[in-house]
Amino acid sequence: MTGVSDFITGGELGDELEPLLVRAAELKEGRPWAASDALAGRSIALIFEQPSTRTRVSFEVGVAEMGGTPIVLRGDELQLSRGESIGDVGRVLSRYLHAIVIRSGSHERVAELAAEAEVPVVNALTPEHHPCQTLADLQTLRERFGSLEGLRVAFVGDGNNVARSLALLGSQAGAQIVVSSPPGLELDAGAGAELISDPAEAVAGADAIYTDVWISMGEPEAAAKREALAPYRVDEALLAKASDRAIVLHCLPAHPGEEITADVLYGPRSAVFDQAENRLHVQKALLELLVD
Ligand code: CP
Ligand code: NVA
Repeated sequence: MTGVSDFITGGELGDELEPLLVRAAELKEGRPWAASDALAGRSIALIFEQPSTRTRVSFEVGVAEMGGTPIVLRGDELQLSRGESIGDVGRVLSRYLHAIVIRSGSHERVAELAAEAEVPVVNALTPEHHPCQTLADLQTLRERFGSLEGLRVAFVGDGNNVARSLALLGSQAGAQIVVSSPPGLELDAGAGAELISDPAEAVAGADAIYTDVWISMGEPEAAAKREALAPYRVDEALLAKASDRAIVLHCLPAHPGEEITADVLYGPRSAVFDQAENRLHVQKALLELLVD
C-alpha cells in the first residue's frame, strides 16, 4: 500500500517516482519471468475517447502480463455518448473494477472521474497532461545515462501536454528541463521548465532533444501554427548543437518532415522506439503501485 491513489498530473507520485523507475527497469530486464502477478483476479478499464496506438496496446498487454483482465472501452460505445455523467460512470465502474485508465479530450472530465471513482484513475492523456508518457521518457533517459540528476533535456516545439508533463515530472526527478517554443505557443511559466525561445540556445549542451507533433489531437488544423513552428523542426543541424552524447526523443506518433526530419527520427541518436517500448514496462510498475 502507498499513499498514491490516482495518477492524473503525475505530481501525485512524489518520492515514489524514483522507486517506480527502478521497478520498471526490473520488469523490463526480467521479462517475462519478473512479470508481476499483481493484477491476478483484477479487472482494469481502459477508456479511450480519442485514438491511441501505444497507450492502448501497452496498457492492454501490460494488464494481461500481470494476470489481470483489461477491458477496453471506446467513449462512443458507453452511455457517456448518450449523456450519462462521467461521475456516474466512475461510481458504477468502481463496483466492478480495480482501476480506470482514461484518455479524454477534457482534463476536467478526468479529474471529475477521479473525484467520483472509488478505484485508482490513471490519466492516459488529456490536452493538458500526458504523465504516462513522461514516465517512459524518464525510464529511457535513466537507462541511457544511468541517472536523471542534472541531465539537460530540451523540448523543442509546441508547449503542449507532453512538454508540460516532462517539465513537471522531469524536474521532480532532478533533470533540468528546457522548453523552446515560438511566441504564443510557450509552456506556462512555473511549469517546472526554463523557457528559452531560441531553439539553438535551448539545445546547447543538451543531453536529449525532445519534440512532438505540431497539431495535437482535438486541435483544429492551423496553417499559422505550422508556420510558427517550422523553425523549431528537429533536424541534423539542430542536433549538432547539442551535446555529443545527445539522444533524440519523440512520444510518437511522428510526422517526419514536419516537427522532425526522417534522418533524425530513424538515425543513430534516436531513442524513440525504446521510449515507446518503455510505456509497457513503466505502466506495469505504475499499476503495481496503484492497484490493491
Ligand atoms: N505516445 C502516445 O501516447 O501514443 P498513442 O497516442 O499512440 O497512445
Ligand atoms: N501532443 C500529442 C501527443 C500524442 C501522444 C497530442 O496530444 O495529440
